[in-house]
Amino acid sequence: MNIFVLLAIIAALVAIQVVGTRFVKLNRLAWMAIWWIALYLALSFGIDPPLPTTIIALFMAIVTLALLAYLSADSEELETAKNTIVSFMTERKYMVPLLIAVVAIPLLVAFKVYSDMTQPPQPPASGRTIHPPPPASINFEGNTINLATANNPYRDLEESDPEAFAQHNANGRRIYFENCFYCHGDNMEGSGMFAHGYDPLPANFNDPTTISQLQESYLFWRIAKGAPGLPGESTPWASAMPAWENFLTEEEIWDVIIFLYEFTGYEPRAQGMPH
Ligand code: HEC
Repeated sequence: MNIFVLLAIIAALVAIQVVGTRFVKLNRLAWMAIWWIALYLALSFGIDPPLPTTIIALFMAIVTLALLAYLSADSEELETAKNTIVSFMTERKYMVPLLIAVVAIPLLVAFKVYSDMTQPPQPPASGRTIHPPPPASINFEGNTINLATANNPYRDLEESDPEAFAQHNANGRRIYFENCFYCHGDNMEGSGMFAHGYDPLPANFNDPTTISQLQESYLFWRIAKGAPGLPGESTPWASAMPAWENFLTEEEIWDVIIFLYEFTGYEPRAQGMPH
């Protein structure tokens, strides 16, 4: 619901009502047109997320029928409306507006048909879940790692021993440029030399919706288990992310995670917050 748009439309209707009854006498036909436009604007811009155009067309067809019923409910008003239309079509003084209407209406229809037909075809949305909930625990080289409580064992060194922390970071850099940059890129923007062959693309770690939203244990799971470890809703077969558990040690994975955060400048998401 877009409350400001709706309030603006209601305010405009009230203003027209005041002006329309005090100063100029609007007949029922004019009111119908005003209500039709107001309802169209409210349906098109007042609702969030937007309604599909087919639904708007359906509602507007109902609105048109309801307004016609309203118009024909009073035979005197119906007569006035008819006369207004007939005089618009026959009287000389309406010549120019009539000509404009006769040319503009087919032009608008033609433009609509043309613009609908020239829309480029869109592939259907794949609906892949990018960040599925992780499993409660994973098995890593015979040890069970509880993902809800696992922490990067070297994270504390950042405060307590910056030199040791820098070494883990340097080791992470080596691991990244030996293994990851082919896909995730020199700048971690997801456009390494292999990236263009993949769909989905390798994650762009600079994007604020990736590692900055995730806990380190979540990254550990994704790096250790790769695409094969993804649940069904993430269509694991569509991702090229390798499972690194047989190639990197536990320490190496935590180190490369440190490097991902140091390089991008993001902080990992705190433990205990939901994904
Ligand atoms: C063969 C290409 C390839 C290589 C090499 C690769 N990745 Fe990936 N990675 C991907 C793709 C594709 C995705 C996105 C799809 C997905 O989430 O599985 C991804 C996703 C990720 C994610 C998940 C990000 C998120 O927001 O959920 C992490 C973390 C990650 N990679 C880390 C790494 C690390 C660390 C390395 C190196 C040890 C690495 N990747 C090597 C292709 C690769």
